[in-house]
Amino acid sequence: MNGPTVEKQNLSAGRLLRVLSGEALSPPPLWFMRQAGRYLPEYRKLRAQAGGFLDLCFDPALAAEVTLQPVRRYGLDAAILFADILLIPHALGQRLSFGEGEGPRLDPPVTPQTLTTFRAGDIPAPLAPVFETVRRCRAALPASTALLGFAGAPWTVATYMLAGGSSRDPAELRRLAYAEPGFVDALIATLVEATIPYLIAQIDACADAVQLFDSWASGLPEPLLQRLSVIPMQAIAAGVKKARPATPVIFFPRGAGVMLEAYARLPECDAISIDTSVSWDWARERLSPHAVVQGGLDPLLVVAGEKAMEDEARRLVETFRGAPYIFNLGHGFTPETPPENVARLVDIVREG
Ligand code: CP3
Repeated sequence: MNGPTVEKQNLSAGRLLRVLSGEALSPPPLWFMRQAGRYLPEYRKLRAQAGGFLDLCFDPALAAEVTLQPVRRYGLDAAILFADILLIPHALGQRLSFGEGEGPRLDPPVTPQTLTTFRAGDIPAPLAPVFETVRRCRAALPASTALLGFAGAPWTVATYMLAGGSSRDPAELRRLAYAEPGFVDALIATLVEATIPYLIAQIDACADAVQLFDSWASGLPEPLLQRLSVIPMQAIAAGVKKARPATPVIFFPRGAGVMLEAYARLPECDAISIDTSVSWDWARERLSPHAVVQGGLDPLLVVAGEKAMEDEARRLVETFRGAPYIFNLGHGFTPETPPENVARLVDIVREG
């Protein structure tokens, strides 16, 4: 096991933090990516009241309420701050909007010219409502429920900034990384610089641990993966740990395949979240010796429910028995997930 948090045995901190400190618990603690969101009727109701998604993110009372909804419903071991990875580009000066059914837009797409106008040093001031959300959640949660902060990893955030929204052609971004390395590396450096104080401010508002989402790490050849994902994520975690050494950092490099081991071996990586394509036996063998493992269950199994979900959930728990493991999905819940299947899944995992 890596990192300064390993020796820390904080028995009052709740089950998720105990596992992040390197303890193996049975049953494993659990939370879910996108546990707050459109599959929950109570979320849809508040979202309609708030108007837009951004209005929800920037209203601490509403955002805290949305954060707490799934915890109240299912008694999970962690709440994850309700916010979005695209708030940083928004705060840097790209206007973020969500059109009905078309995903996020960032206007205008970043260019070498507009990049020079971004002031990473001004972050986190414009994101102050997010920290107020964290404070409100902490005040409302029992001490045994962990509160997770998060940010996007630089490459994933950069893909949205460069494409002006969801990228339709990842190959185009890869081409840009080769053709204009100065521009792409400067963008990544700006995001590293902006993300460190953003996460520290979440921790100071009482986030117990933070997760870095690199949802678009997939498909990068090893040298690009090192340059655009491994090294920048490590730099963020190192910056956070230099300031707040006791806070665990969870890495989620989605689609990184066998390269997951390179992240898990980083001294700054306390936990690694695995996506749906990762072999659980491989992860147990190659990742568990180096970091806490989290995740793995296909969110579509929770849409299907029934025996298919139950059998796989039990197999996942069994695979990591004896290792520090946090039950979670391989990616977020989709909007069509029946909330009652989630309740059943929680029961299965809690049976241990
Ligand atoms: O419950 C939670 O997981 C906490 C909140 C959270 C959201 N987004 C809320 C959200 C978190 C951790 C994120 C992270 C995020 N946002 C990622 C990384 C994780 C991943 O899913 O890969 C990414 C890539 C984004 C960018 C983003 N935000 C996209 C592509 C979209 C639109 C896609 C979609 O599902 O519609 C969003 C919007 C968004 N962020 C929603 C939620 C609940 C849906 C907004 C709505 O209510 O319409």
